[in-house]
Amino acid sequence: MNIKEFIKKSPKAELHLHIEGTLEPELMFSLAKRNNIKIPFNNIEEVKKAYNFSNLDSFLKIYYEGAKVLIKEQDFFDLTWDYILKCREDNIVHTEIFFDPQTHTDRGIDFETVINGIFNALKKGEKEFGLSFKIIMCFLRHLNEDECFKILDKALAHKDKIFGVGLDSSEKGNPPKKFKNLFKKALENEFITVAHAGEEGPPEYIWEALNFLNVHRIDHGVQCLKDDKLVGMLSESQIPLTVCPLSNVKLKVFNKLEEHNLKRMLDKKLMVMVNSDDPAYFGGYLNKNLTETQAALNLSYEQVKTLLVNSFKSSFLKDAEKKKWISKI
Ligand code: ADE
Ligand code: ZN
Repeated sequence: MNIKEFIKKSPKAELHLHIEGTLEPELMFSLAKRNNIKIPFNNIEEVKKAYNFSNLDSFLKIYYEGAKVLIKEQDFFDLTWDYILKCREDNIVHTEIFFDPQTHTDRGIDFETVINGIFNALKKGEKEFGLSFKIIMCFLRHLNEDECFKILDKALAHKDKIFGVGLDSSEKGNPPKKFKNLFKKALENEFITVAHAGEEGPPEYIWEALNFLNVHRIDHGVQCLKDDKLVGMLSESQIPLTVCPLSNVKLKVFNKLEEHNLKRMLDKKLMVMVNSDDPAYFGGYLNKNLTETQAALNLSYEQVKTLLVNSFKSSFLKDAEKKKWISKI
């Protein structure tokens, strides 16, 4: 079997995926029409042209704008269902998805509208296709901690649906320690924690996420190679780093895929795997991330296998489930 076929056919877990980042232009237009919302684009070509980002913040501006078409529970269901169909195409058998409630509640949408739409689609995917899932609620780090406490209180009523909490949005100038009290309360309420750190921000933010927020995983983490002591600790502890190669190129963290540091991370025995982040905006879902990265970095069959195995090892699945899927790779 050639390496592309191996990637396509192997079961995979996806651990870093923003559900709002799966909003394809076609769905954006149809929801805008359905909900009578004005969007700053006349056609799909214009949308695609606008997806030319210079950094994280330039992307976030468009991403938050796009999310404004999501109004009703059915919209969140449809968005999630479309992603589930992509999981089928890419043989993703387990997914741990992020959602950003504040992006919606700040526009007057009920928390329940958002979580119920997403959860019901995932439950349907589980029933019909056997796709397992966890939902992780992200706090927007450009907002203040007090506002985030209000959202955490809302999430407590949905503990049966929400597995953990994370931290995303504009990284530079919003260090993890800004949210240490918030994450303390989340941990007291038995949410697992993760955080975006070291995407654009310095290695110091990775240390902070580990030391102040008690995270199980670091989302992105690619800046860790600038700090040898951090690399040593991450490699020793095998704390997972959820790397998103196409995202990193689109947001100019690396100039081109050939310059991505994923191979160097593998060489340093870091617990890394590949994810798609916001695939509708960054040009590809999980298989495309894997295939293009393999080709650009000339990753070996063994290295690709390690990435796929790591996706399950780093997941929040039970050990027996991890073992079952790993044996099928
Ligand atoms: N929200 C959606 N995608 C993100 C990313 N790559 N970094 C930070 N926040 C995000
Ligand atoms: Zn992300």
